Amino acid sequence: MANRRETVAMVGAGQLARMSWQAAISLDLGLVCLGAPGAAAVLAGADLVEGSGYDPDALRALAARGDVLTFEHELVDLDAIRAMEEAGVTVRPSSTVLALAVDKLHQRRTLSSWGLEVPAFAEAPDPGAVQAFAQQHGSPVVLKAVSGGYDGRGVWMCSSQWEITAAFEDAAAGGLELYVEEAVELAGEAAIMVARSPSGSVAVYPLVATRQVDGMCREVVLGAEMAVTTEVAAAEIAVSLARRVGLEGLMAVELFVTGSGRVLVNELALRAHNTGHIHTEAAVTSQFEQHLRAVLDLPLGDSSPVVLAAAMVNIVGTADGSDPAERRAEALAVPGAHVHLYGKAARPGRKLGHVTVCADTTERALERARAAADRLEGNG
Ligand SMILES: Nc1ncnc2c1ncn2[C@@H]1O[C@H](COP(=O)(O)OP(=O)(O)OP(=O)(O)O)[C@@H](O)[C@H]1O
Ligand SMILES: [Mg+2]
Repeated sequence: MANRRETVAMVGAGQLARMSWQAAISLDLGLVCLGAPGAAAVLAGADLVEGSGYDPDALRALAARGDVLTFEHELVDLDAIRAMEEAGVTVRPSSTVLALAVDKLHQRRTLSSWGLEVPAFAEAPDPGAVQAFAQQHGSPVVLKAVSGGYDGRGVWMCSSQWEITAAFEDAAAGGLELYVEEAVELAGEAAIMVARSPSGSVAVYPLVATRQVDGMCREVVLGAEMAVTTEVAAAEIAVSLARRVGLEGLMAVELFVTGSGRVLVNELALRAHNTGHIHTEAAVTSQFEQHLRAVLDLPLGDSSPVVLAAAMVNIVGTADGSDPAERRAEALAVPGAHVHLYGKAARPGRKLGHVTVCADTTERALERARAAADRLEGNG
């Protein structure tokens, strides 16, 4: 009798789950996701348990369908996850590790207690505390949601008392708790992806340069000129953190790089990440396949690059609400364009897909990826 197919249960059913499903098909693994019927992964045929990551019953129903429980986002009830671990469910990464991504203030405190450089930060119970912080660290300051932020939602850059008050009003309306940090003078931003399996193997991907617009990742470049010291520092941070936290799965480390070459940790994500999409074409093993391998304790894949340069550009919904899929053919006419569309309903500002182009120089890769993205967004 054939064995039951090994199955990964994933909290979330968006584009990251959809691309994980794409990888699961190749390995003949099962993938069951938690989300809504129209979600990107479900439209592509992944199995669904309907519900939210904040619903303990839905989480239990999901876990019962897989051999291991993992995540495509961190909008989850951590207490429920802890209770499931105690009841014997295999959760990777564990609730203790996931807590770092769920609570950004906890993340800042933990990383700084481990001697990693992070922006100066403090609790921000009220505007007065923020003013006191600004007096000490200078203005502007950055207010951030402790939990629940993504794509720049939950980040307020504030230069005035008025902006601080407005941020608190916004946060209160969304039920968000805030903390404050210094605004770092950025020479650039970068990200690095690392995987660790329960048996202790580690695979680190090459460092990529990232460009955010309004807090949302828009472009990622592999092969961009970066100081060797930055590359070494980034890889050391990623690998040592993966070991220190006892990572089981995938972790993206978002980094701030300053003009003087300091490398600060901005944020950890304990899952596949937008800055890792580029590795689908630019590395031997995609982040999505790597995540499945890691959480099932299969041998990790080779994470080394297969090209000299590559660029990934996100497709973001435009003001007219039109569907980029209508312009697919125009984008595919760009040489080397790998077009990924998520099947999501087009809404302004929503991530709807991405394009990756590999080339022999970053300039050519970026030029082509931008050209294809512009065509999909209807600007080309
Ligand atoms: N302390 C800071 N100093 C300077 N710029 C910052 C700071 N914090 C955030 N930013 C800018 O805002 C962007 C988004 O911030 P952050 O990564 O914390 O938010 P996020 O919404 O959680 O993003 P993600 O979608 O990556 O999870 C950063 O990539 C950076 O460009
Ligand atoms: Mg970020």
